[in-house]
Amino acid sequence: MAKGRKNGLYDNPSEELSTLMRSGWADTERHGLEPDEQAPYAAHRRAALSARFPGERLVIPSGNLKTRSNDDTYPFRPYTGYVHLTGDQARDGALVLEPRAGGGHDAYCYQLPRDSRDNDEFWIGYTAELWMGRRRSLAEAETVLGLPCRDVRTAVEDLAAGSGVPTRIVRGVDPALEAAVTTDEERDIELEGTLSDLRLVKDAWEIGEMRKAVDSTVRGFTDCVGELSRAVATSERWIEGTFFRRARLEGNAVGYGSICAAGEHATIMHWTDNDGPVRPGDLLLLDAGVETRSLYTADVTRTLPVSGTFTPVQRQVYDAVYEAQEAGMAAVKPGAAYRDFHEASQRHLAARLVEWGFIEGPADRAYALGLQRRFTMAGTGHMLGLDVHDCAHARTEEYVDGVLEPGMVLTVEPGLYFQPDDLTVPEEWRGIGVRIEDDLVVTEDGHENLSDGLPRSAADVEAWMARFAG
Ligand code: GLY
Ligand code: MN
Ligand code: MN
Repeated sequence: MAKGRKNGLYDNPSEELSTLMRSGWADTERHGLEPDEQAPYAAHRRAALSARFPGERLVIPSGNLKTRSNDDTYPFRPYTGYVHLTGDQARDGALVLEPRAGGGHDAYCYQLPRDSRDNDEFWIGYTAELWMGRRRSLAEAETVLGLPCRDVRTAVEDLAAGSGVPTRIVRGVDPALEAAVTTDEERDIELEGTLSDLRLVKDAWEIGEMRKAVDSTVRGFTDCVGELSRAVATSERWIEGTFFRRARLEGNAVGYGSICAAGEHATIMHWTDNDGPVRPGDLLLLDAGVETRSLYTADVTRTLPVSGTFTPVQRQVYDAVYEAQEAGMAAVKPGAAYRDFHEASQRHLAARLVEWGFIEGPADRAYALGLQRRFTMAGTGHMLGLDVHDCAHARTEEYVDGVLEPGMVLTVEPGLYFQPDDLTVPEEWRGIGVRIEDDLVVTEDGHENLSDGLPRSAADVEAWMARFAG
């Protein structure tokens, strides 16, 4: 829990002020609420989790506020596994799956209830409802989440009292709850891995959210193209702010720090300072994703010629990346090994780099030795969902050594990056970075590119910019 404030201007309230504050409030309990659209899907996800851990109690906390300084906090981000299994985003909550004697589990959710108006808690202290906004009552949360809810302020006591039940908790999320239970670290890590495994295949509701995330992202990219001349007059920050506005307007936020990388910054994989100039003649690599209000994120990259057309060398690099992406996307289909799309893209990039004389061939040898990595360090993609690098704790045999299944959502994002100080390439190539990144859902017979609302080929990018560039 975040600490209190020092050096505020008010002392403790007088008795009379406290009394005044406690009276005269309307009953604001919300009646007639409907369960959240996601509730039945979350119930299915919990049933899948229940089947994996018969006879064990599972505790999945949402997490607490983190202090930034004094009484200022970082924006709260609920633990991904909690969001997935409840559809809830409340802080200080926890999902508990309690094993039933006859098999299966009973699920319930700890919640921080509304502050009482019979004492000062609702208005004193910066986490009070009058400072941070109204929370849901337990009854409201029960209806919306479709789950029995309990007061989290008794959770430590409750969980400690049930210490005879074999228990697992996701560690590193809520220290107080973690201290209340006795668990085994390896088994807790296994629980966290299973929560990732369960997110590998998205359900229909999640795919709908991914579509929303990507559609907003497409609009955000178009906004950025429309603001290019202002970015040229200012800096990469103008692009960052333009995309952020769209993300906040239509979604929750950006799903990760936007990479707005002009010129040689495009060769830095995670350039998020975004404080450099945007110059005509350079490329602008924009890697950004809107996160929906339900917290599902897109992750899309386009590399744009600031002046509207690619130079011959930029075009050569761009086309190689585009072809590598085509090769990678063709390998995204059910039954394919997850690694296939990466291999297809990387082989193509290795072949081009050999052809250009930047690495020693033949291409198969260069690929086998990974020589292309000097110019393309990252893997070609990753799972995508509630986290930008989703399902990161999944079992290797289910993820990178696994097989693609309908409902999986992943990025395909080959790139080539020629560092500005790389003496092994001609000067004209130095400082060029190109990435093209799309978000694909695996379907029954192949894949659907969710982000195909944005142009990908060099010619289509140029035509798009001619139409929208401001
Ligand atoms: N934006 C981070 C990534 O593409 O993986
Ligand atoms: Mn990505
Ligand atoms: Mn990205």
